[in-house]
Amino acid sequence: MQTVHTIAALREQVARWREAGESVALVPTMGNLHRGHLRLVEQARGHARRVVATVFVNPLQFGEGEDFGRYPRTLAEDQARLETAQCDLLFAPDEAQIYPDGRDDLSRVVAPRAFAELEGAHRPGHFDGVATVVSILFNLVQPDIALFGEKDYQQLQLIRRMVADLHMPISIVGVATEREDDGLALSSRNQYLGPEQRRKAPALHAALSAVAAGLRGGRRDFEALCREQFEALAGQGFEPQYVAIRRPDLRPSEAGDTEFVVLAAAVLGTTRLIDNLRAEAV
Ligand code: PAJ
Repeated sequence: MQTVHTIAALREQVARWREAGESVALVPTMGNLHRGHLRLVEQARGHARRVVATVFVNPLQFGEGEDFGRYPRTLAEDQARLETAQCDLLFAPDEAQIYPDGRDDLSRVVAPRAFAELEGAHRPGHFDGVATVVSILFNLVQPDIALFGEKDYQQLQLIRRMVADLHMPISIVGVATEREDDGLALSSRNQYLGPEQRRKAPALHAALSAVAAGLRGGRRDFEALCREQFEALAGQGFEPQYVAIRRPDLRPSEAGDTEFVVLAAAVLGTTRLIDNLRAEAV
């Protein structure tokens, strides 16, 4: 696997593949790669001849007081993992490559209003930052297909909307969430957790599972279902931010629905965890 740090080198390699008629898949990441990220790369291999991964900790999507400064940066390990996963090219730019004129007065992609909810309500500006950097990466790589994890469910829906709204000729593929044996969704942020917090952390997945079980069991008192698990999390030392039931396209659920996604975010100590689960009730 080749690693490039500049846009010129990236474009050169992709152009060579294009001249040879090869298809290209893109897996954007912020690095500190774990099994979840590598699943995206493995799946990408099945969709295109060439796989490009990117590692860029995007300052634009972090709010004031968030973890931009301490976000784990582990490029050497990431390179080794991508190599093993048979990635063809890693693009690892610095901020000056991506935002050469700074980011104070940048042209941006604005997320649709619907994304001001859930994550958007707790992380103002986050989705605009994601939409902007992903559209930059799409313009740089011009892939046929790009893969995103269901772990960040709203993000996946946002990218689908952006590609549709802006008529970007890119297929978006969602990949199932990789979890630890105890249910905790893999995340680069899990390593912020101390041992006691790590022991508690699977309670977030358990709360989602309890809501999903309620839905499958026929409950349609959405607010009460969510409130019960919100309170259960609070009782276990989390600071829950939301527990919500939505349609798979994130519109509000209604009593006659049979397909749901349950989403939650909670802070444990100083670590913010998010997760979601799909539930089908027939
Ligand atoms: P990052 O958090 O590094 O995640 C990169 C990709 O890996 C995302 O599509 C995310 O949903 C996926 N992912 C993370 N954990 C996963 C898990 N446990 N199972 C499956 N997939 C998982 O998401 C971002 O970076 C950034 O917002 C980015 C899209 C790169 C834009 O900066």
